[in-house]
Amino acid sequence: MRVPKRVKMVEVGPRDGLQNEQAIVPTEVKVELINRLSATGLSVIESTSFVSPKWVPQMADNAQVMAGITRRPGVSYPVLVPGMQGFEAAVAAGARELAVFTAASEAFCQHNINCSIAQSLERFAPVMEAAHQRTIKVRGYVSCVLGCPYQGEVPLETVADVSQRLLELGCYEISLGDTIGRGTPAKAQAMVKAVAARVPRRRLAVHFHDTYGQALANILAVLELGISVVDSSVAGLGGCPYAKGATGNVASEDLLCMLNGLGIETGVDLTRLIAAGLYISSYLGRPTGSKVARALGQEMTLENT
Ligand code: HMG
Ligand code: MG
Repeated sequence: MRVPKRVKMVEVGPRDGLQNEQAIVPTEVKVELINRLSATGLSVIESTSFVSPKWVPQMADNAQVMAGITRRPGVSYPVLVPGMQGFEAAVAAGARELAVFTAASEAFCQHNINCSIAQSLERFAPVMEAAHQRTIKVRGYVSCVLGCPYQGEVPLETVADVSQRLLELGCYEISLGDTIGRGTPAKAQAMVKAVAARVPRRRLAVHFHDTYGQALANILAVLELGISVVDSSVAGLGGCPYAKGATGNVASEDLLCMLNGLGIETGVDLTRLIAAGLYISSYLGRPTGSKVARALGQEMTLENT
């Protein structure tokens, strides 16, 4: 099996995970989670989003989160911004890396950010320009790359097209989002190949929600195509408020266990990652969504009895 020697894990739990929680999580809990994650060896922790608090109330404390975290050298703390208003607020809060987000489905784009795909790209243009002037890196997300909760099938041509537009706008990395987790390995490979015909593979990341339990299989399938940046969410937290029923991203602990088993370097410590996941799960009052954390937790309990 040919897989990359090293994979960059992009932790999205504090944003993608917590944005979907109904009850407001206190700022200090978010800050503690991010600080614990930054002690695991992760180099990227997506920390919050600067979106409308009317749309996503859970992220309303974005500036306080950014002010509260202890920034570790070598760790990046990107935040989501949908346009210039978000950009200004994020920069004022000290964000040094941003992510813009659109979709390969018109219907999802309308539900999520209240505009068409073309309008979203128009809104990103000044963000990219202003970010470039300040040497702030910008990542680009494409949602619904393997299906849409409103529209169903999404043509691969559109996924490739939107990804290419984000690259041309200046995004350094394009994260391909299976928002509703409907992808399976062969479809995931076909999608990555279609995009890779327009965007260099080293610029691509994958973002698999695990709603149908296919995320790890999909990740392995695309690692074999040379993809080496993978998004994940500690304890498997999350979903998208505008994709009802979609569950969290692949759990970071489960992803790390698979990468360790393949001998792929990540620089991330599994024990510390599990501890960060157990911290937030315990606060939320429910079992972790990570199978690895559950299995190891049980082993530890058995050892102590
Ligand atoms: P809109 O209503 O069309 O925009 O929302 P608007 O410009 O008319 O603004 C409406 C109000 O929001 C105004 O306030 C603005 O000031 C305010 P009012 O005048 O009514 O008092 N506003 C803002 N406030 C704070 N920060 C901002 C901001 N912008 C406007 N940045 C908008 C358009 C994009 C703002 C809205 O649709 C929105 O916030 N959507 C959020 C969507 C979201 O966060 N979704 C989840 C993240 S995406 C995701 O999870 C997918 C991903 O994980 C990949 C995958 O899984 O596929 C990335
Ligand atoms: Mg997501």
